Amino acid sequence: MAVEVPSTVKPSPAQKSSAAEAPVRTEIESLYDRYVVPTVNRGLTLTHGKGRHVWDDKGRRYLDLGAGVAVSSLGHAHPAIQETLARQAGLLIHSSNYYYNEGQARLAQRIVELTGPGKVFFSNSGAEANEVLIKLARKFGHDSGRYEIITALNSFHGRTMATVSAAGQDKNKHGFEPLLPGFTHVPFNDLAAVEAAITPRTIAVQIEGIQGEGGIFVATPEYLLGLRELTRKHNLLLLWDGVQCGYFRTGRWQSYQRILEGVPGGEDFTPDAIAMAKSLGGGYPMGATWIREPYQNVLGPGSHGTTYGGSPMACAVALAILDVVQREKLADNIRARGDELKRGLEALVGTRGIQGVRGYGGLIGLVVEGEPYPAIAKLAQAGLILIPAANHTVRFLPPLNVTADEIAEALRIVKESL
Ligand SMILES: Cc1ncc(COP(=O)(O)O)c(C=O)c1O
Repeated sequence: MAVEVPSTVKPSPAQKSSAAEAPVRTEIESLYDRYVVPTVNRGLTLTHGKGRHVWDDKGRRYLDLGAGVAVSSLGHAHPAIQETLARQAGLLIHSSNYYYNEGQARLAQRIVELTGPGKVFFSNSGAEANEVLIKLARKFGHDSGRYEIITALNSFHGRTMATVSAAGQDKNKHGFEPLLPGFTHVPFNDLAAVEAAITPRTIAVQIEGIQGEGGIFVATPEYLLGLRELTRKHNLLLLWDGVQCGYFRTGRWQSYQRILEGVPGGEDFTPDAIAMAKSLGGGYPMGATWIREPYQNVLGPGSHGTTYGGSPMACAVALAILDVVQREKLADNIRARGDELKRGLEALVGTRGIQGVRGYGGLIGLVVEGEPYPAIAKLAQAGLILIPAANHTVRFLPPLNVTADEIAEALRIVKESL
C-alpha cells in the first residue's frame, strides 16, 4: 500500500479561509505569532460552541463534524458536562494518585465491564495511553530479553518520543533521531509481513483497528483473527490503539467489535491491552489503558505513574459522558448517522473530485483528488468543519449525538461546495 502521511505543519483549512477573509492578522493571531511555539498552522479563532455547532470571532457559525479530532463526543457545551464540571469543581478537582478517588474506581469498573476482565491505568492523553502499551510490553518481555514491538506502516500513536518511534511513518521522526530502538514496521493488513518480522526478541504487535491520521484504513477481519492467532502462538501481546477508532465511534465500543461483526470467531476476539483517549473525556484531557487478565498486574507498584491521570474531575466527566451515551443509545445513533453519511458520500463518488469513501459510523474518510486541504478550505468557507488526514483524505469525525438533519446539512454543503 503506497501511503503518504502529511505533517500537521501545513496550511490548515480554516487558516486558508480566514486568510482569504481577513488578510490582516487579528490581535489574537499576532499574539500567537509572537508567543506560541509554531508547531502547527492554525485556522479559525473559535469563541464558543453549542451542540454540533461552533462560532468564530467574526460571529460565523459552522457545523463542526471534526469534533476537535474525534474528541467532543457529546458536541459542545453539553449540559451534562457543564453540570458535572461545576459540581465536581466544588468538591475535588484534583487529589493525587496517592489516594483513592471514587470516580476513578467507578470508571475503571465501567471500562472493564465494557471491554472484558482486566484493569485500567488512567493518564491524560492518547500518547500517554499508548506509552502504557509500550511499557507494558517492555516489562512483560524484560526477563526473557524480549522488547521488540511490530507496528504498522502508516500508523500514528502520538507525539512523545516513544510513540513517534513506534509509529510507522517517517515525517514525524525527522530531526528527532536517535529514536527509541525496538520497533519494526510492516505494511498494515499484511499478516505474512508480521509473521516474517517476528524474531526471538519480539514481544508485541501494536496496531490501530482503523488507521485514523493515516487516512481511515480499516483492518480486515482476516488480519485481526490472524494476528490474534499468531500472537498467541508466539506468546506476544496484541496491543490495540483505540484512541481514535474506539469509544463507540464505529457504532460499537471498540472498532474490532464492528469489524468482526458476524464473522465466525469474531465475538471471541480481544486484544491484550487497549489505549483510549479523545472521546472518553469529551474535551477534558483524559487517557486510559485497559489491560486484559492475566497481564493486569504486570505494571506493579512504582513501575509507572502520573500526577494528573484519573483525577476526580476527569473521571467525573468521563462517567457523565458514558451515562449520556448509554442512556441515549448514542452508539446506535452514530451507527445510523454514519450509514446515512456514508451512503450520501458514496453517491458522490466519481463527481466533484471525490474518489472514494472509507470507514464506519463516526469515522469516515472521503478520498479526494490531490491534497485534502483545498477541499477542507472550501467546506469551511461554506460552514462545515472537517479534518484532514494522510492519503488524500478528508475526515468526518462527528460527535456521537449528531442528528439526521445535521448529516443532511453536511451532505448538502459537500454537494454544493466541492
Ligand atoms: C490513533 C491515535 N493514537 C494516539 C493519538 C495521540 O493522542 P494525543 O494527541 O491525545 O496524545 C492519536 C491522536 O490523534 C491517535 O489518533
